Amino acid sequence: MDFTSSLKASIEIPTIKELQKRNIPAHVAIIMDGNGRWAKKRKLPRIAGHRAGVKVLINIVEVCVELGLKFLTVYSFSIENWQRPQEEVKGLMRLFRRAIGEQLDALSKNGVKLKLLGSEESVPPEVFKSFKDAEYKTKDNKNLTLNIAFNYGSRQEIVNAVKRICDNVKKNKLKVEELDENILSSFLYTGKIPDPDLLIRTGGELRASNFLLWQIAYTEFCFTKTLWPDFSKEQFLRAIYNYQQRNRRFGKL
Ligand code: IPE
Ligand code: IPE
Ligand code: MG
Repeated sequence: MDFTSSLKASIEIPTIKELQKRNIPAHVAIIMDGNGRWAKKRKLPRIAGHRAGVKVLINIVEVCVELGLKFLTVYSFSIENWQRPQEEVKGLMRLFRRAIGEQLDALSKNGVKLKLLGSEESVPPEVFKSFKDAEYKTKDNKNLTLNIAFNYGSRQEIVNAVKRICDNVKKNKLKVEELDENILSSFLYTGKIPDPDLLIRTGGELRASNFLLWQIAYTEFCFTKTLWPDFSKEQFLRAIYNYQQRNRRFGKL
């Protein structure tokens, strides 16, 4: 069953102006899944699917800027993804570095601020450096913050936050009694960024795959079978429209 029939062509594509008359989510998160299957269907190497995926991400970033969205968080590489064949991992690392180099000017021109969410551990230093350089070069941009979850794992993020909190308690910088949800949140990679309003997962899997487990407590979900390289601006706009029809109750009546 496709839970996202509303993303299909049967409804008209809402215009950006129409969407802006309603509540635009502040923060959208995306699990960009399905690159490998997209390539396989075309008898191409998996890396060709990842390359096609980068192009789609650029389009989606553009439409987010046009909509006036403040935060977009994309899952680009999970800690678990290191367990893939060496060839794919190496190809992905090369692709990340090249994509950042090629897209940095365009991102900057669009007022996009790039932020890395993830750990440095095991990342080739030149790849990590390209992310950090991009963060530095875009740090004053004000339109959209593009969070790239790279070498990211949500459980690891939480463990890391707890360790740092313990360290602060040991050094008397924080009292155990003071600890609350906001303080714990502030120790996560996402820091003071608001929680995602909407999480989109492409590729047809109905799972979280260790992504933003703490942050999605009250996030709305949108699953689509569309493989990430086939995902379009139009489908993104339909997902936003679909989100705008929902009644978020947060446990209240
Ligand atoms: C998502 O696409 C991208 C990464 C995990 C890096 P996949 O590579 O998981 O594509 P499928 O799920 O195998 O089709
Ligand atoms: C999640 O996709 C990670 C990214 C999109 C980067 P995976 O393809 O790695 O997730 P599983 O293995 O299907 O859960
Ligand atoms: Mg996958």
